[in-house]
Amino acid sequence: MSNIRLSVLAAFAVIGASLLSTAPPASAQADPNRMLDQFEATFGRFEGFRRSGAKGVCAMGEFVGNADGRSLSVATAFSGQPIPVIVRFSVGGANPKAPDNARSQRNMALQFNLPNGERWQMGNISAPVFGAATPEQLLGRLQSLQPDPATKAANPEKVKAFADANPEVLLQGRYFASQPVPASFGTVNYWGVHAFAFVNAKGEKRYGKWIFEPLGGTQGITDEEAKARGANFLFDDLRERVATHGVAFDFNLQIAEPGDRIDSAVVPLPEDRRKVTLGRLTIKSVAADSTGECLTITFVPTTLPAGVEPSADPMLAARAAPYALGLGRRLTEGANQ
Ligand code: HEM
Repeated sequence: MSNIRLSVLAAFAVIGASLLSTAPPASAQADPNRMLDQFEATFGRFEGFRRSGAKGVCAMGEFVGNADGRSLSVATAFSGQPIPVIVRFSVGGANPKAPDNARSQRNMALQFNLPNGERWQMGNISAPVFGAATPEQLLGRLQSLQPDPATKAANPEKVKAFADANPEVLLQGRYFASQPVPASFGTVNYWGVHAFAFVNAKGEKRYGKWIFEPLGGTQGITDEEAKARGANFLFDDLRERVATHGVAFDFNLQIAEPGDRIDSAVVPLPEDRRKVTLGRLTIKSVAADSTGECLTITFVPTTLPAGVEPSADPMLAARAAPYALGLGRRLTEGANQ
């Protein structure tokens, strides 16, 4: 059996496992086929590419956890030994030609290859909030943004009516509008957005939300600089930075306190919550082209190691099925990037 077919089967096995461990009430699950069809109807269908985060590049990294990580969780990621990590950086959206120089989403997806075949996958984004609170709300938002066949553009009245009734869907766009264009994939924060529980050797469980923060701090560019760099500078910039000054992120966990919302991807934790650094991710190399291990991986954020558990955020549980179906669609079309 080919590697690709094995990966599809593995992805479905992962869904099976994660649905068992995190299954929310049936009503919280939107039909994943319908969801993917709607992604394609709204953003277009680009054969072989991911339906979200299409323009991307694979990289290899190394994670070293620390004593604070070990005190919060028994996950082997925090052992202090270097852990190989498969990394995929991407630009938000379904278009593989999305411009690099817009005030828009950047992503950093990770797969920690832990001892004994254990995996920890994440899909992190460059905003503290997602664009919808529930899968049903995401579906409704995408429907409202679907281009009208006659005008080839979304109907502004429909867009407004949905957003007026669902104001959470505007929070993420407002955040991006308030931020400069990132100077690099290596100079922007990446949030996990969902809460997860960290469980230590005493069985103590602490919920938190993580942020990967670049070592040199965040760095944006002006709109003029962005225009001058053009629509395709991010991949070469990353290769050059990794080869010269290096690219690394601290893995920081903001710890929730009793009463905090830990079930929402649109409500960040209060800013003053204690933040603990649990380790450091260093990017070691970047693929020279669109190949690499990422091609056949889908980064399912409920693929978790022992010592890290999902929260009840309905958006988190809703990701596994459409990701695996999306992987199936793009692999059968001929995987790209
Ligand atoms: C029900 C809600 C969601 C749906 C249906 C959805 C759908 C998808 C799909 C189909 C892909 C492409 C998967 C692949 O082909 O491998 C994807 C990628 C991605 N999504 Fe989501 N998504 C959802 C929620 C979220 C949330 C809440 C976040 C925020 C953390 C997020 C972040 C990402 C990232 C970072 C990627 C790119 C991963 C990569 O590089 O492979 N998604 N999403």
